[in-house]
Amino acid sequence: MANEKTGNALWYPYAQMKDLEVNHQVQTAEGVHLHLTDGKRLIDGISSWWCVTHGYHHPELDQAIKDQLDKYAHVMLGGLSNEPALNLSQKLVDITPEGLNHVFFGDSGSVGVEVALKMATQYWHNLGRANKKKIIALNKAYHGDTSGCMSVCDPAEGMHNLFSGITPQQYFLDAPESGYEPDLALLKQELDTIEAFMRSEHQHCAALIVEPLMQAAGGFNLYSPEYLKQVKTLCEKYEILLIADEVATGFGRTGTLFACEQADICPDIMVLGKGLTAGYLGHSATLSTTEIFNAFLSDDPSKAFMHGPTFMGNALACSVGLKSIEIFQRDRYLERIKHIETHLKNSLLPVQSKKVKAARVLGATGVFEVHDKSVLADAQAFAIERGVWLRPFESYLYTMPPYIIDDESLSKITDVMLEWANS
Ligand SMILES: Cc1ncc(COP(=O)(O)O)c(C=O)c1O
Repeated sequence: MANEKTGNALWYPYAQMKDLEVNHQVQTAEGVHLHLTDGKRLIDGISSWWCVTHGYHHPELDQAIKDQLDKYAHVMLGGLSNEPALNLSQKLVDITPEGLNHVFFGDSGSVGVEVALKMATQYWHNLGRANKKKIIALNKAYHGDTSGCMSVCDPAEGMHNLFSGITPQQYFLDAPESGYEPDLALLKQELDTIEAFMRSEHQHCAALIVEPLMQAAGGFNLYSPEYLKQVKTLCEKYEILLIADEVATGFGRTGTLFACEQADICPDIMVLGKGLTAGYLGHSATLSTTEIFNAFLSDDPSKAFMHGPTFMGNALACSVGLKSIEIFQRDRYLERIKHIETHLKNSLLPVQSKKVKAARVLGATGVFEVHDKSVLADAQAFAIERGVWLRPFESYLYTMPPYIIDDESLSKITDVMLEWANS
């Protein structure tokens, strides 16, 4: 049946279409602002699902795309190459942790994760150890919406739990609870549990996949660099690859360019998306070490990596990705992110509200976790009335602003969050 409120041609994401009202159509967007067709102007407090790192309609990013468009928009990467893809792959090798030397492009974060899972499994297959095919994931994890990704999302609490038993059965470990500044006794206990599991199951395990330091869509669960470092050590000890899904955490969101840097580790495989193209075009990059890459080199054709999304290495996406990294480095974005973090900590962490169970801040991410998720029902309308775009989900009201945000706009976001908490 047609939905009279929205029309039914457009099926919206993560939404019950029966009673969905979408009254916020964006006409133009500039900097941190969304200008709606009804004349409202909203500060985007969540960077369009965390990807619009430089804000909207950025003149240099727009120009990078226009310049490439004058040459061509896209050529296939099967047998052809293009300069933006070559340059971006080299740039990513240069800026990611030392040891990641090869880049496989995809067209979304989910595809980037699929590539990582497939690469990890085939790595062991190519080495003659085909029994190592299970993936270890963490409860509270979110890695995307396609089948392989769903198989490594939280199987009980996650939004894909309906598909448990249909998607491949993976291994799950408890989500870390020892925190960003860890409770050391708890941390030790968590690591002991992981080690016990690996000791008994490593023969079947291809890889462990984590969102480094911050389990994002699964509940903004922060954990420590020490946890990550020790997990990497355990992976090495038990011959299990470590996949760092930095789709959400990459490009500065946790305070460093990549979250893995805080633990001083190089994962075997790293996945980037979202901020890679600054919200202009869907794209992802799955990076691997040379050891992994070399396992695919062979005279035997079946050892090649048989994967190739049509739009991988798209020239427009790679052009804007390159320009985005250039601006990020040139304009010292890590300092901006530090400034945002200080603001978020000073304003959000002291919250005293009956609604709020916990407040957490890391890098350019600030979160209120509420006791009872039903109280969030009015939070989005409350923010919109006050000129801010937020999209709370489950038990979380959060901000992940564009890094170009000025103090006044940032205060507006945090004031609205606090006003809602105290309302
Ligand atoms: C950690 C993580 N991995 C993967 C994805 C999937 O990315 P995409 O939505 O681009 O497919 C997301 C999206 O939120 C994510 O947060």
